[in-house]
Amino acid sequence: MMSTRETSLPIVTTSAAEAAHSVATEIAELIRARRRGGRAAVLGLPTGRTPLAVYAALVELHRHSALDFSNVVTFNLDEYLGLAPQHPQTFRRYMREHLFDAVGLDPANAWIPASDVAPAQVEAHCREYESAILAAGGIDLMLLGIGRNGHIGFNEPGSARDSRTREVRLAESTREDCRAHFGGAAHVPERAITMGVATILAARRIRVLAFGAAKREIVRRTLDEATGPALPATYLRGHADVKLFVDAEARPAS
Ligand code: F6R
Repeated sequence: MMSTRETSLPIVTTSAAEAAHSVATEIAELIRARRRGGRAAVLGLPTGRTPLAVYAALVELHRHSALDFSNVVTFNLDEYLGLAPQHPQTFRRYMREHLFDAVGLDPANAWIPASDVAPAQVEAHCREYESAILAAGGIDLMLLGIGRNGHIGFNEPGSARDSRTREVRLAESTREDCRAHFGGAAHVPERAITMGVATILAARRIRVLAFGAAKREIVRRTLDEATGPALPATYLRGHADVKLFVDAEARPAS
């Protein structure tokens, strides 16, 4: 059963499976509405564990309910820097495996920062990413997870509200969380490219997911602490159309 509590960050408590279904349905409705209007649906997308059920639900809708992705343009939130394009841990590879290939998304419509940009080119690459988002008409719906240190995208603590797509140094806790995927801490990239906080907040709708007891403390802090760079997820409060979906384990006691 879903229940909603109004705060400056509307929070919906439901099961992870129901949340994934609800968000996938909302995305499907957006895609179909934009198609009827002869337009593209522009999605902002995360990687990680949390969105996997949403991607599985979208693949299901594509296969069994004829959800067509030919008018979909996607912008991923972030990508590691310093990985060869064929490295198994790039976010591009993750997205192809979990969504893009299965729904037949045109690679020309799937934007992800490059993992192998030469240092001298990073700034221009980030500017071009921002320009591509604008050229696509801006992001209609941004899907987000929350890191256990409160990051959104790879906007780690210390990120400014007006930050845009840029190169960042990953926090140690973030690198620690990625360690298992890379076969040891020494192999985890130190840097990444991420959309900025302002890039995220410019999305017309934002849907945030946080599941499991490991997210409860960061959800509590996101709801309770002062808005600011110490906890970038707090910047989401006050967005005109944001919803945070949590399961019972991630929901702080009220
Ligand atoms: C991933 C991203 C991150 C994750 C966050 C939660 O592209 O931008 O902000 O959303 O680290 O990760 P999971 O879902 O693995 O707990």
